[in-house]
Amino acid sequence: MLAMLKIRHALPAQSRRGFRNKAWITDGTMCEKKMPNLKVSSFDIRIALIADTHFGAVKEGRGRKCSEYAAQYLKNFSRNLKSADFGVQLGDLIQDAGPERARRNLLQALALLDQNDTPLYHLLGNHDSRHIPPMELRQLLGLERLSYHFDHGGFRFIFLHNTVVDLVSHSACVSRKDLNWLKSALTTPLPCIVFSHYPLADQDLSENRWFCDRPNSCLLSNRKKIREVLENSGRVLAAINGHAHWNNITVHRGISYLSIQSAVEGVGEELLPANARGELLLAENEMCLRVFGRDPMLFSKKFLRDSLVFDFHTTC
Ligand SMILES: [Fe+2]
Repeated sequence: MLAMLKIRHALPAQSRRGFRNKAWITDGTMCEKKMPNLKVSSFDIRIALIADTHFGAVKEGRGRKCSEYAAQYLKNFSRNLKSADFGVQLGDLIQDAGPERARRNLLQALALLDQNDTPLYHLLGNHDSRHIPPMELRQLLGLERLSYHFDHGGFRFIFLHNTVVDLVSHSACVSRKDLNWLKSALTTPLPCIVFSHYPLADQDLSENRWFCDRPNSCLLSNRKKIREVLENSGRVLAAINGHAHWNNITVHRGISYLSIQSAVEGVGEELLPANARGELLLAENEMCLRVFGRDPMLFSKKFLRDSLVFDFHTTC
């Protein structure tokens, strides 16, 4: 059951134009504004995350994607990847703008991300797949499957593909085939981290710049069913996604659902790019997610590896 004690009073309100930190949770965990000191060296695994770079976008209406900064951002992100075990690109690497331009954007973005040999794993976003067929995207991104998983350092990392079902509204789901695949991917004694492009949580989007009046374009339509699969496995520590263009922490039945801000979202009164860059740190019994840039967030939790019983705190 989703506990309903919200602590939004501890956070500044989100204005439609302006930037505010946006990280709140729904089961009463304390939220403080000051980042605690974190002993990064005590973590064993470091994963670099990016979301929604929308490379090739032009100025948009209601909010602004500052995609003119995306090229330098991608180059910097790739150069800094060498300090990570691997990187995760959470989707919407490019903006859709017709088949030819989408292809050109994708090839250019991938070239910018090719600055070192550290593995970078991709998910497809709704804008990536709007004009380029899935088979071609798989080839370009070097993926055998769109949903896949691997084990690393005592954890299982699951990449769950989301299928866009309506090209106009961008509504999406996880297909029955992928849902069955997810059940088998979660059959492991290892703690699991699930990555997806769309959020799996029941986020309150009433203050979201892009999705306040169309939550069905943001949240997966069969998210409740997906969450049941995650919950029934007893193995999931957290699910991490992009697409929502803000930072958000929502907890359902002990699983942390974490949205990461878009790299190019215009924030603040001047609508400067968020330059958001995520870092997931994992140790034997602790995980921590930090988002750097103009819209920072920090979340951490401790857990017992066998039972995944945990105690956690968050800072935004
Ligand atoms: Fe998206």
